[in-house]
Amino acid sequence: MQTIALGVSPLRSSRLAYGCWRVGGTWNPADVTPANRAAGRRAIIAAAEAGYTLFDNADIYCGGEAERIFGEALKEVSGLREGILIATKGGIRTGSDPCPGAPPRYDFSAQHILRACEASLERMGVETIDLYMLHRPDFLADPEEVARAFSELKAAGKVRYFGVSNFRPTLLTALQAACPMPLVAHQVEISLAKLEAFTDGTLDQCLIERLTPLAWSPLAAGLLGQGAGELLPSQKGYRPERFLPVVDEVARDRDATRTSVALAWLLKHPGKILPIIGSVRPERIREAAQAVELELTREEWYRLLIAARGEPLP
Ligand SMILES: NC(=O)c1ccc[n+]([C@@H]2O[C@H](COP(=O)([O-])OP(=O)(O)OC[C@H]3O[C@@H](n4cnc5c(N)ncnc54)[C@H](OP(=O)(O)O)[C@@H]3O)[C@@H](O)[C@H]2O)c1
Repeated sequence: MQTIALGVSPLRSSRLAYGCWRVGGTWNPADVTPANRAAGRRAIIAAAEAGYTLFDNADIYCGGEAERIFGEALKEVSGLREGILIATKGGIRTGSDPCPGAPPRYDFSAQHILRACEASLERMGVETIDLYMLHRPDFLADPEEVARAFSELKAAGKVRYFGVSNFRPTLLTALQAACPMPLVAHQVEISLAKLEAFTDGTLDQCLIERLTPLAWSPLAAGLLGQGAGELLPSQKGYRPERFLPVVDEVARDRDATRTSVALAWLLKHPGKILPIIGSVRPERIREAAQAVELELTREEWYRLLIAARGEPLP
């Protein structure tokens, strides 16, 4: 698969990343069966075989089981670790952590970042995380304190590069100003069903600061494919049926699939949006890679944008 640089770092990633959110087959760690684990490992290995070299994870995915399953896949395939980049996220705390009654919340205290990162390393069974991201902005985030935690992790060789996820551009600016190292990635939801990043300054900032935008739910959790798996509450109001006929027309014109068109639409942006593929089906993981070969014209791109907006441009 084609590769691109991750932000200003020397790291290079495949044009599509693979996301491990769904590899446990359930959100509840207690419900993960050996068959789920095996299917999760198969999906990860299928992605590696199809040329994906960036693997996204988070400490909260399936209560840590997604990172454990990923670690099992690393053990199963010798040499896999050396050929890929490992990305994971921390900074969200679940309810009742560390004591009963504690609410689900965000925590960018240095103590929590250091502890969460250590725990991710241990679950995956690796020495180093290539890209560590803060998952959702902590209302109490102190950029100087975060910068101290990042510096400590980097100096200890535990993390190579850092990024953020779901940040407002202004908070990213504040954090970058405090950090001695460049932030290299911003992971946000971007798809034909979720257009805000194009207009709220997120993608502009990625261009200015040369951060790589990582697009989560690039197929709107399946709504732009053959139907959704599990939707986040924020995705339940999406109405892709309004514009899917246009996606299908472009797909017919280009002898491509609907999902290839939806992914190629993201790939065309000059900020080099990196879609994170979330299917756990090996055939779909392989099929998504075909999108990298599909170059949409500006006319096709705008046709899709206007359809997705549901109204003409001003
Ligand atoms: N930073 C954040 O806040 C955040 C939030 C959410 C996700 N993420 C990251 O983004 C990654 C991707 O998110 P996502 O899983 O929602 O992405 P997605 O690729 O938009 O959606 C994947 C879902 O779509 C389904 N699907 C239906 N038809 C499909 C088709 N033709 N091709 C492919 N998939 C189809 C898949 O089902 P099957 O598995 O049955 O194919 C799967 O349930 C996650 O794994 C995670 O790493 C980050």
